[in-house]
Amino acid sequence: KRHLISAGDLTKDDALLILDTAEELARVSERSIKKLPTLRGRTVVNLFFEDSTRTRISFEAAAKRLSADVINFSAKGSSVSKGESLKDTALTLEAMGADAVVIRHGSSGAPHRLANWVHGSVVNAGDGTHEHPTQALLDAFSMRRRLGGLEGRRITVVGDILHSRVARSNVLLLHTLGAEVTLVAPPTLLPVSVGDWPCEVSYDLDAVLPKSDVVMMLRVQKERMNAAYFPSEREYSRRYGLDRDRFAKMPDDAIVMHPGPMNRGMEIAAEVADSARSTIVEQVANGVTIRMAVLYLLLGGETA
Ligand code: CP
Repeated sequence: KRHLISAGDLTKDDALLILDTAEELARVSERSIKKLPTLRGRTVVNLFFEDSTRTRISFEAAAKRLSADVINFSAKGSSVSKGESLKDTALTLEAMGADAVVIRHGSSGAPHRLANWVHGSVVNAGDGTHEHPTQALLDAFSMRRRLGGLEGRRITVVGDILHSRVARSNVLLLHTLGAEVTLVAPPTLLPVSVGDWPCEVSYDLDAVLPKSDVVMMLRVQKERMNAAYFPSEREYSRRYGLDRDRFAKMPDDAIVMHPGPMNRGMEIAAEVADSARSTIVEQVANGVTIRMAVLYLLLGGETA
């Protein structure tokens, strides 16, 4: 494949190749080999129209560890403020020699459109409320490293599913990898299409927690919602927050995940986020490794 736009485009073999490549790259890093020459002479453009901490920095770190040249483009401070379109912005960057364009955009479908305009590979780094495939890959990689495998594992994803590109990509990828996903959310924070997703839905977090191998908490995306969706932070936290009492209901070997950024004290208590069974910091480190694997397979290695 030339692009990575949706987790749903990955076959099980594609996904396993990316995870196994990341495992190899992690082993190389553990041998204190910080930089590989694999993508020397290649240029990766990070094209970010929405804010990001983890994804933007980890794509930059991943490209640099593979010796690629990196151009970071942020819409803020660019000619986008003068009305330049996504297409013209992309063609300008391609004229500067981009072999891959990593794009984050507020509009669902922007990476797909971009793939029609540029010759290089397009990697979706989060588009609107649609998908965030490398987040799902780094989550699967983190789960596999902690739990050993994903086949038959019970993954519970909790919170603002409606606005979450992370949830959709995770459901698609985890289903492909043989896991059983249950979404838990208030009815107002579930998309109408959820009945077509390959997962179960529950409104009762306390009933699902004891049967979960993984509990993935999602950020409540207050910037994308109005009061009709989300009447009260306290009520949300009481019914859907992972606090100390709920954490105690999880099996002793179950893990807690969050893609970040977190609303500490709302969807997740600080002591749960910082516990030894939380993978939140590992997820960030694994993000660099997964993004190295994706860039390597798209630009330098075998075809995924
Ligand atoms: N998880 C995630 O996508 O974080 P950023 O928005 O900081 O990139």
